[in-house]
Amino acid sequence: MESIWSRTCEIRRRESLQGDIETDAVVIGGGMAGILTAYQLERAGIHTAVLEAERIGGGQTKNTTAKITSQHGMFCKTFLEKKGKETATKYVQANQDSVEEYKRIIKEEKIDCDFEEQDSYVYSQDAEKLKQEAEVACELGISASYVKEIEVPVSCAGAVKFARQGQFHPLKFMAAIAERLTVYENSPVKEIEEHIVRTPGGSVCAGKIIFAVHFPFVNFPGMYFARMHQERSYVLALEDAGTLNGMYIGEGKDSLSFRQYGKYILFGGQGHRTGEEHDGRKYKGGSYAALREAVERIYPGSREITCWSAQDCVTADQIPFIGTYAKDRPDWIVSTGFRKWGMSSSMVSAMLIRDMLCKNENPCAGIFVPDRFSAEELPQIMKDGGKAVKGLTKRFFHIPDEISSQLEPGRGAIAETAEGKAGVYKTEEGTIYQVGIICPHLGCELVWNPDEKTWDCPCHGSRFDYQGNLLEGPAQEGIHGE
Ligand code: FES
Repeated sequence: MESIWSRTCEIRRRESLQGDIETDAVVIGGGMAGILTAYQLERAGIHTAVLEAERIGGGQTKNTTAKITSQHGMFCKTFLEKKGKETATKYVQANQDSVEEYKRIIKEEKIDCDFEEQDSYVYSQDAEKLKQEAEVACELGISASYVKEIEVPVSCAGAVKFARQGQFHPLKFMAAIAERLTVYENSPVKEIEEHIVRTPGGSVCAGKIIFAVHFPFVNFPGMYFARMHQERSYVLALEDAGTLNGMYIGEGKDSLSFRQYGKYILFGGQGHRTGEEHDGRKYKGGSYAALREAVERIYPGSREITCWSAQDCVTADQIPFIGTYAKDRPDWIVSTGFRKWGMSSSMVSAMLIRDMLCKNENPCAGIFVPDRFSAEELPQIMKDGGKAVKGLTKRFFHIPDEISSQLEPGRGAIAETAEGKAGVYKTEEGTIYQVGIICPHLGCELVWNPDEKTWDCPCHGSRFDYQGNLLEGPAQEGIHGE
């Protein structure tokens, strides 16, 4: 499972941090948001170092579908009703500015990243809703229209079109802009104390510390774990599926996503909350299987080249958190909660953070402040709190022989043992792996994910492979058995 981007771009390796350095700002996280932030800060004369735990672009950036658009699904009318005209206008404007900023950077820096200006579409079965959405989008300042016919072969009553958005190769773009930046790879942050960030090989003393990680890993202050959830979605790259103008996404829970890259159609869908049962999983054994069934219908005769999945952080009110980490950490800045719109949100974030540090007025800053209160958060906090399991931290389990022998090869399950519940996985060759199933983040019980053979946390979305190694935070350690 390797994305089309990883297959087609190798980013130059960087040294890890060795020794102690001082700089104006340090960015934790070398994904698109972190690299763009460092790029914008350096351009503004603020010396910045980036600390990446593994390889830059190696997290969610390599898993995006890389649409650069201010069209974040069918959202304009809902945002207008929930947030009012001023906030809705600023949100779409910030994202449209981000689309234009990508175009400017790519042109000015002459970046060869397969960028194409494309219209973006959200399709639906409901013509009336589409017409209203187009009308509201225009009211909010977007060049939008309702179109009755679209190119993708799905049943719908048309789509809302946002004109002149964009698509590109995210790793080629990132490799180019990172070239002149100070980046340390394989430098995981182990400790942060006021202005000092420590990694195994050295430390950075910085005036500002920017958390551009997928999920902010400092639990307190901020409590971001309780204010977001994570969602997964799946993508197939298809050959011999024809050509496509435009970028498309469907409305609603069964939404499908389409765009072209070179000779491939990138076909995505089957989104669900991490760690939760969902329709795709019930379908013939998994989300990929459900997506492949849709391919047989929509693109018969096409050939799958590769497949991959993405994980997105979602805030309760759907607006990212970008701004001061917490009141008592005025020099820490957080950037997270981009939903499926990581490319445009990364640029929004980079420009906002640049303006914060340069003390430039940014009219859109207020709507992203992380300490805004949203009543939509409360039900989520209550729900997740109820899933925490206390006091079960054992790492050794004696798995009864009958459980090991009954488990089918390639399957995982939760087993009751004398020491408590354990996670068990049997490889195709019959080797048994056991793990603790209490999430080391805040103690929720993990669930087996048959799509990707992982243990996933239904609370805040941490994920672990079947051997117990940490794949995604906010947890910071694995769940290995002993
Ligand atoms: Fe928070 Fe698992 S990710 S408890």
